[in-house]
Amino acid sequence: MRIYHLAAECYPVAKVGGLADVVGALPKYQNKLGMDAAVVLPFYDRKFTREHTFDTVFQASTLMGTRRLYFEVLKERDNILGFELYLIKIPGLLDREEVYMYPDEREQFIAFQIAFLDWISYSQQSPDVIHCHDHHVGLVPFLLNYSKLYTRLANTPTVFTIHNGQYHGVLGWDKVSYLPEIDMSKSGLLDWAGMINPLAAAVKCCWKYTTVSPSYLEELTINSNGLEYLFYLEKEKGSGIINGIDTEVWNPKTDPMIPAKFTPAKQEEGKQKNKQELCERFNLSPDKPLIAFIGRLVLEKGADMLPAAFMRSISEHKDKVNFLVLGAGDVNMELQLTLLKEADPEQYNVFIGYDEALAHIVYAGADFLLMPSRVEPCGLNQLYALRYGTVPVVRSTGGLKDTVIDFGDEGGYGIRFNNVNVDDICHSINRAIALYDNIPHLQLLRKRMMALDFSWDRSAKEYIHLYESLTPII
Ligand code: ADP
Ligand code: GLC
Repeated sequence: MRIYHLAAECYPVAKVGGLADVVGALPKYQNKLGMDAAVVLPFYDRKFTREHTFDTVFQASTLMGTRRLYFEVLKERDNILGFELYLIKIPGLLDREEVYMYPDEREQFIAFQIAFLDWISYSQQSPDVIHCHDHHVGLVPFLLNYSKLYTRLANTPTVFTIHNGQYHGVLGWDKVSYLPEIDMSKSGLLDWAGMINPLAAAVKCCWKYTTVSPSYLEELTINSNGLEYLFYLEKEKGSGIINGIDTEVWNPKTDPMIPAKFTPAKQEEGKQKNKQELCERFNLSPDKPLIAFIGRLVLEKGADMLPAAFMRSISEHKDKVNFLVLGAGDVNMELQLTLLKEADPEQYNVFIGYDEALAHIVYAGADFLLMPSRVEPCGLNQLYALRYGTVPVVRSTGGLKDTVIDFGDEGGYGIRFNNVNVDDICHSINRAIALYDNIPHLQLLRKRMMALDFSWDRSAKEYIHLYESLTPII
C-alpha cells in the first residue's frame, strides 16, 4: 500500500509539538509492517534541510488565484528517516525558517496543498491512501473530489487525523478563488459558520477521520471551538487511535541526549545521576522531589495555573519540593513564570525556550511530570515520562485519561486529578511529595511504568486496518 502522509510538521525536519513526533514515527512503523508510507512536508529553511541532500523529482508551476507559483518537489536522498521524505519548495512561501505564525499562513498552506495535488496528479501517481494531519492540509479531501483539476484522483481514499480540534485554519470566503477550479455547487462542504473552515471541510469530505485518543473523539462533541455539532453528526465516520512513541528515539538505555543511560533494572541510580546534573544546571537540590512541566505555554496546557500552584506548594512545603519548567509560548505566561524565579530561586527554576535535548534530560531526571491540561487530544509528554520512569501527574482528560491510571487504582502508576484549578493541582502535588517519601512504593511504580508498552507497533497496525477497510469506489 502506497500511503502519503501530509502535514506541516515532522520530527526531526521541523518540530513545534507532538504532531511532528507522530508524523516522524508513524510512517516508519508502518513501513516496518510492510507498507510503503512516505511523508510530504512544506520545505523549511532549517538545520535538517541544510544538512541533508535532496534530489529534485518534480518541477512545475501552478496558480493560486491569480498568483503563479513555481514549485519543486525535493526528495531526501538516503531515506534516513525510515520513510521517503518529500519537501515542496515554493520561493517566498515554502522556504522559510518557522513553521507557523506568518501573516500569510493561510496562503502558505493552500499553496502547499495545491502543489502536492498537482504533483501527484501530473506525475500520474495513484496512492492507495492520502493521510492528512490537522487543518493545515484539511482542504485536500475536498479538492480531490470537487476540483476539476484532480478528477483522476477523485476515488483516492482519504484519512484525516485530528491532533488538535481547537484550531481550524478558518479563512474568509474572499479567498475562495485560491482554490483551483472547484465545483461551487459543493461550496457548502467548505463552510462552517459563514467561513471557509478547513477542519470542518476535512471532517465532511474525508473517507474516515481519526482522533489521537478514544476519549478525545467523545470530547470533540462537547468542546471543539464551535464544531461540536459537526462532530456529533459525523461521529460514525470517526475513530480514536491512541498515539504511540518512537521507542528508538525515546529510549533511556540508548538516548544520546541524556547524561546517564539507564534500564528499568538500574533506573534508581541512572535517574539519580540525571537528576543531579539537571539540578546542578538549574541550581536546585537533588535531594528534594523534582516536579517538572514541559510544554507549550498556552491555556490548553493549563500553563497559566502553574505560578499560583507552585507558590502555594512552595509555601506549604518549605524546602521539601523543587519545580522546573521548560516551555515557550504566551508572552504573559512566560513573564509570570520568569518572575516566579525571583520570588523563589531555591525551589523553582524555568527555561523559557524550546530545547529538544533539555526535554530529554528533564524526562530522565525529574521525579514527576505535571500536565494540568484543559485539552489534551493525546499528549506525548506523559508517555515519554512513563518510559523514563517519571511519574505523570495529569488532569483526567483526552489522551491523559486513556493512558494514565492513578496509582490508587489497581495496576496504577500515575497521579490523576479532575479539575484545572489550584486546589486540585496542589492536592496532587501533595500526593506526589508523599509518594516520594515512600521509596519502596515509588520504586515499584517506576518499574511498573517502565514496563508499559506505548510503542507505535500496536497503533500503526490500527491505522493499517483502517486503511484496509477503505475500498475505492470503482
Ligand atoms: P502538543 O503537541 O500539544 O504540544 P504533545 O504532548 O503531543 O503536546 O507533544 C509535545 C512535544 O513537544 C513533546 O515531544 C515535548 O517533549 C515537546 N516540547 C514541548 N515544549 C518543549 C520545549 N519547550 N522544549 C523542548 N521540547 C518541547
Ligand atoms: C496535538 C495535541 C497533543 C497530541 C499531539 C500529537 O498537538 O495537542 O495532545 O499528543 O497533537 O498527536
